[in-house]
Amino acid sequence: MNFDLKKLDLDAAASEKCDLLAVLVTEEFKAGKDPLSALAGQAIKQGDFSAKLGKVLQCYNAPAAVARRVVLLGAGDGSARAVRQAVLSLSSLLKGPQVKRMVVASSAALSGPAVSALVQAVAEASYVYTTTKSKAEARALVRCVVGVFDVIKVRSEFDEGVALVAGVEFAREWGNRPANHATPTMLAEAAKSLAKQPRIQCKVHGPAEVAKLGMGAFMAVAQGAEQPLRFIELHYRGAAKDAPAVVLVGKGITFDTGGISIKPAGEMDEMKFDMCGAASVLGVFKALAELQPALNVVGLIPACENMPDGRAVKPGDVVTSMSGQTIEILNTDAEGRLVLCDALTYAARFKPAALIDIATLTGACVIALGGVRSGLYANRDDLALALQQAGDVSLDLCWRMPLDDDYADGLKSNFADMGNVAGRAGGSITAAKFLQKFVGDIPWAHLDIAGTAWKGGAAKGSTGRPVGLLFQYLLTQAAAAAKEVAKKPAAKPRAKPVKRASAAS
Ligand code: BES
Ligand code: MN
Ligand code: ZN
Repeated sequence: MNFDLKKLDLDAAASEKCDLLAVLVTEEFKAGKDPLSALAGQAIKQGDFSAKLGKVLQCYNAPAAVARRVVLLGAGDGSARAVRQAVLSLSSLLKGPQVKRMVVASSAALSGPAVSALVQAVAEASYVYTTTKSKAEARALVRCVVGVFDVIKVRSEFDEGVALVAGVEFAREWGNRPANHATPTMLAEAAKSLAKQPRIQCKVHGPAEVAKLGMGAFMAVAQGAEQPLRFIELHYRGAAKDAPAVVLVGKGITFDTGGISIKPAGEMDEMKFDMCGAASVLGVFKALAELQPALNVVGLIPACENMPDGRAVKPGDVVTSMSGQTIEILNTDAEGRLVLCDALTYAARFKPAALIDIATLTGACVIALGGVRSGLYANRDDLALALQQAGDVSLDLCWRMPLDDDYADGLKSNFADMGNVAGRAGGSITAAKFLQKFVGDIPWAHLDIAGTAWKGGAAKGSTGRPVGLLFQYLLTQAAAAAKEVAKKPAAKPRAKPVKRASAAS
């Protein structure tokens, strides 16, 4: 799908040729003389429409516009959140076969974040999964023109939004694929495909290399599976070589049966989504490839299946992690922290500016925060604040959770340096405390996305979260770094700009 940014007021929007003209009408709207705003004004006067969020009026062959369909959308205060909600109400129309070209116009000037939210919402509303369907009806929408009053003012947020769409859709695609279509080897191939784009490199470590690194915790999870593990290492190099990288670590359990501590059968299919942390890292790299910002990012993905088997790790087994710390595996279903802890130890070699892991880690986090906000943990206040704000701006929300040392008490073991589970109480927090034992003094954050990475029920599917939050955080870091460089005249020049890859997807 292609997005275009165009200067349009309602008067100009009326003569746009397309299958659907969506008109965002905000609370400050006052009817003018042009036919479209006259139409909106009349509808409001008659009580058939209002600018309230959620209000929709569909018009067909209306003389006020060239477009066959005109939909007036109440857009409330015109904020990013309101625009997103208004556009999402078009979902059933945009998922259908009729609308190939759409134009979105607005009665008021939209802010940069609102334009980015608009682009995200059009993509989200029109997304269809097709990969494993035999008679797939792909997304019909091929082009969306975003009409704004001032193109120059919102250009950068528009470009960021378009790049983010590519990233979110990459994450959704890999999240949605069934486990037999998204094995650790296939995930590694997906990562390698990203390395075809400028500034991205990918290295895939197999079982022998992982054994050599001493990743005993990661290997213990993988040992019950026929599918071989993969440790995926991605690099995006957009800044000077010596500029410290942000390191992202994504949990890549391509299927979580629970292992010998096996899960109940109901809804176990949803454990194909247990690699959504990994998918979010891939999605961020896809977005970076599209936008080519000036910063360095490393992505690490420990990928394997968690299976019950004659060779599988057993409750009570003690393994030695890459850090040298020993772990008593009391519950083989607490496998995410086992694959992550070795990846976190590996990450230290990059001396990260920030180390952020993303994981569908605990059912307890779903109980605590539901599907609205991801759980955020951090050992630095500034990092927590930056991530929280990135979530607010991108409408990909998170909420900070505590890391008091007392929460680690339950992890004590009589037979190893630690157990891999504490009691049921505070399960998301004790999982985070386990991870913290492997990051030392590095500025670190952990996002528990168990409640936000996918939806169950009739709308079952991956959400692509938290690619938006992470990408926003990275862009903010890049902007801050650019400011620092501008302050220091003696600083080394950053890498030469590379021609942007096509934003079309
Ligand atoms: N992948 C699951 C977490 C999960 C469960 C996410 C349900 C979303 C929905 C994770 O590997 C797991 O099984 N965690 C256990 C930990 C427990 C054994 C301490 C859990 O949450 O039950
Ligand atoms: Mn599990
Ligand atoms: Zn899991």
